[in-house]
Amino acid sequence: MRLLITGASGFIGSAFVRHALRMTEHHIVGLIRDTDQRNKNRLHGYEQHERLRLVKGDLLGDISGICEGIDAVVNFAARTFVDHSIRDVLPFIEANVMGAYRILEDARRQGVKRFIQISTDEVYGSILNGAYSEDARLNPTNHYSASKAGADAAIIRHAAASPLMREASSWARLSARL
Ligand SMILES: NC(=O)c1ccc[n+]([C@@H]2O[C@H](COP(=O)([O-])OP(=O)(O)OC[C@H]3O[C@@H](n4cnc5c(N)ncnc54)[C@H](O)[C@@H]3O)[C@@H](O)[C@H]2O)c1
Repeated sequence: MRLLITGASGFIGSAFVRHALRMTEHHIVGLIRDTDQRNKNRLHGYEQHERLRLVKGDLLGDISGICEGIDAVVNFAARTFVDHSIRDVLPFIEANVMGAYRILEDARRQGVKRFIQISTDEVYGSILNGAYSEDARLNPTNHYSASKAGADAAIIRHAAASPLMREASSWARLSARL
């Protein structure tokens, strides 16, 4: 299977790329936006891996056709710092809602069969006891989680209208599914 992983040099995306290369035979295209050394180091030792191709790009830039030949997209890319979102929400709406929508739209055009959106439990707000199910009511309480909920809503809508799959999944289930 050929996977496109966005946010591939991020904290979780890079761990996913390393894990997938070690544990599966999948070929991976990793979309990276970062220029800072700390993020580059997360894939240190994997840059020349025969099943990994790193592509520089931004979900808000020209990504037309990036999903060509891809079987599944895993969208980790997002603005993630809650405190930053409180200071300035616009970059969060742009990256988390528009960015997710743009990669989803390219996936749809290119006929990608599976699209996995990495969401966050924060879209459900806080809970005193127990845990939420994926079908719980969205109740985001900060700008970051509101932007993630916006992406979820757009993707749920897409999934209802097309054969694309939407899943907000845990790490273990995500690995098992791919
Ligand atoms: N870290 C957590 O505790 C946690 C918990 C729940 C959900 N999540 C979700 O997991 C995903 C990954 O989180 P993380 O902790 O690895 O975050 P991170 O900030 O380390 O990584 C996010 C990556 O997305 C990239 N990105 C941002 N905007 C982009 C754009 N416009 N185009 C292309 N790439 C862009 C960044 O450059 C970065 O590499 C996010 O979607 C986040 O909402 C994280």
